[in-house]
Amino acid sequence: MVGKSLLLCCLIFPGTFATSGSFWHITDLHWDKNYKVENGKKVTCESSNGNQAYQGGPYGSHACDSPWKLIQSCVNAMKKILPDPDFIVWTGDDTPHVEDAKLSEEKVRQIIANITELIQGVFPNTKVYSALGNHDYHPKNQLPGHENQMYNKTAQLWVKWLEPKSVKTFNKGGYYTEKLLNKTGFRMLVLNTNLYYKQNLETEKDEDPANQFAWADEVLTKAAQDKEKVYVIGHVPPGMFEKRRGHSWFRPDFNKRYQELIEKHHAVILGQFFGHHHTDAFRMFYNSKGVPISTMFLSPGVTPWETTLPDVINGANNPGIRIFEYDTESLLVQDVVTYYLNLSRANMGKIKWEKEYRLTESFQVADASPTSMHQVLEGISRDNCRLQQYYRFNSVNFDLSQCGPPCRASHVCSAREVDYQRYERCMVKEAAPAALQGAPLGVLAVAVSLSFAFAWP
Ligand SMILES: *[C@@H]1O[C@H](CO)[C@@H](O)[C@H](O)[C@H]1NC(C)=O
Ligand SMILES: *[C@@H]1O[C@H](CO)[C@@H](O)[C@H](O)[C@H]1NC(C)=O
Ligand SMILES: *[C@@H]1O[C@H](CO)[C@@H](O)[C@H](O)[C@H]1NC(C)=O
Ligand SMILES: *[C@@H]1O[C@H](CO)[C@@H](O)[C@H](O)[C@H]1NC(C)=O
Ligand SMILES: [Zn+2]
Ligand SMILES: [Zn+2]
Repeated sequence: MVGKSLLLCCLIFPGTFATSGSFWHITDLHWDKNYKVENGKKVTCESSNGNQAYQGGPYGSHACDSPWKLIQSCVNAMKKILPDPDFIVWTGDDTPHVEDAKLSEEKVRQIIANITELIQGVFPNTKVYSALGNHDYHPKNQLPGHENQMYNKTAQLWVKWLEPKSVKTFNKGGYYTEKLLNKTGFRMLVLNTNLYYKQNLETEKDEDPANQFAWADEVLTKAAQDKEKVYVIGHVPPGMFEKRRGHSWFRPDFNKRYQELIEKHHAVILGQFFGHHHTDAFRMFYNSKGVPISTMFLSPGVTPWETTLPDVINGANNPGIRIFEYDTESLLVQDVVTYYLNLSRANMGKIKWEKEYRLTESFQVADASPTSMHQVLEGISRDNCRLQQYYRFNSVNFDLSQCGPPCRASHVCSAREVDYQRYERCMVKEAAPAALQGAPLGVLAVAVSLSFAFAWP
């Protein structure tokens, strides 16, 4: 009897995985056409801002954006590791970090065209959902909140991947929505969040650039009526950059509005997938009772380029790509598997995109649901070993140094609080008393005057 039920159990068990699917997420390829290696070692590139290109070689340097060889190697590795994904999510930033004067509308278009052609050549029958990055426009960051010929031209490059009605909304504002894999009950929402970027002067005075918030609200409201489940993808994320204290991307009102959109519609949103940081991180969304309701996954970039933002130490990464495993019935994100190229080893001739980690194994959680990701965050916040592990993954095995108290506070608070004010409060709470120097001056002044008030009543 026991043997029989065991057998039955084993026969049925594989069935529970039958609904498992997987997709690739790649982001921030940043191709530098002018990357050159002389005599096998001397590297020059346009994206290094005059910095010495250290640890360079044919596959790239942390001072520079990606050479073509790295991008090719990345797409070929994807084909080798998971040749037949259900779909590919590609969240933008294809051009190098150079002054606008070195690019043009046509140069930007040509770079996007080359990478599109590469992906289409290697994955001719795979559906790709492609979002614009702040570098996929000329001049960079200035994506307009209205119709524009660069939107038209990019839509033409991606026309094989787009339904005709997607081309229409893309031409209007660089966004679109389609049924996920054309299946009833499942939806992909592709946003152009570059419209909310502080550095975008085109949208500075708009309340709702390109009407995207109103449109997304409508799409998600209808999705709920139609009992659909939705994935949201985009490039620039809301919230804070974990590697620089208090550094955010969205204008404050847009940051609020994005949170409201997610809070209102979280029941149909099963995952958010973004890029732009070039790091491996995630952002939690909670309801007013503190219940985790949604997670935004920030996937690492392919470019190994070290950020030029002031005060960021070790701001580079190894090239990373990742597979999301999901339940094709519920769209629940089951697991996240990150692959990477050890750049210094690749430059010594050992070109191997290897598994870096599997989320459920490394963080001992059941899946990648908001509840599980909340547990991951609590682990990072409480346990120094978990924090160090997360910190190593954050730079894709590039920065192996210790993440001390100010670093811990910055990473924990940026993952926990997308809201700017709550992030500041979190920073004060998490940093005190070990690292009061991290607190904003205003808060310190209040604390000091309060303590005087109490000392001399
Ligand atoms: C990019 O596309 C142009 C025009 O089709 C082509 O001439 C060039 O060889 C391509 N470059 C790469 C690296 O594929
Ligand atoms: C973009 O394409 C649409 C047709 O899809 C056309 O009506 C519109 O004039 C084009 N806009 C620009 C700025 O080229
Ligand atoms: C999507 O599905 C509809 C019917 O459900 C079909 O008419 C249409 O051709 C499909 N589109 C694609 C791109 O497969
Ligand atoms: C990457 O490769 C270099 C050179 O072989 C090695 O020293 C380093 O430990 C490797 N990094 C990781 C994380 O394996
Ligand atoms: Zn980028
Ligand atoms: Zn970006």
